[in-house]
Amino acid sequence: MKRVAVLVSGRGSNLQALLDAKQDAYKIALVISNVPEVEGLARARAAGVEALTIDHKRFGKDRELFEREIDAALRTHKIDIVALAGFMRVLTPFFVRAWAGRLVNIHPSLLPKYPGMNTHARALEAGDAEHGATVHLVVEEVDAGDILGQSSMPIEPDDTPETLAQRVLALEHKLYPQCLAKLAASIP
Ligand code: GRF
Repeated sequence: MKRVAVLVSGRGSNLQALLDAKQDAYKIALVISNVPEVEGLARARAAGVEALTIDHKRFGKDRELFEREIDAALRTHKIDIVALAGFMRVLTPFFVRAWAGRLVNIHPSLLPKYPGMNTHARALEAGDAEHGATVHLVVEEVDAGDILGQSSMPIEPDDTPETLAQRVLALEHKLYPQCLAKLAASIP
């Protein structure tokens, strides 16, 4: 069973889905937030999972020093896989290389469409017929990297960014545990 750390910055609904999904292939062993006192931390503690805050603000502009502290915590907890779930910091090459092949993210669009922010509004503005979510390996370029899985749904005529966000989030909650289990089963 692979030991997974989930990195969050806020609400943590994807973390909750990963905690609830009872997979044989992985176990959530650690949660780290870069923002103090967020809901994600409370969710981890409620599930009996160790939860740490490593506040990026303590490190000023030194992103690598911030990541070195995260990396040290991951190694202390013997983590095999790192899952980003609403983690709102862009990672430096140091961290991405250190965890290459074992670092995943979930993104609310059908990548390669709409990397970055405001994905729901962008899908609507483009007049797309469908929209969805992607789980992918993290590489240095933001929201790029091999796709591990996608889930899609039709866009309805009366959809708004808010209704899309809600339905995509429900897709994410199913997709992330499946993709993480697949990755966990595939690495040594
Ligand atoms: C999700 O939409 C995810 O795709 C994106 O950030 C959001 C996080 O939501 N990366 P939550 O914190 O998991 O509820």
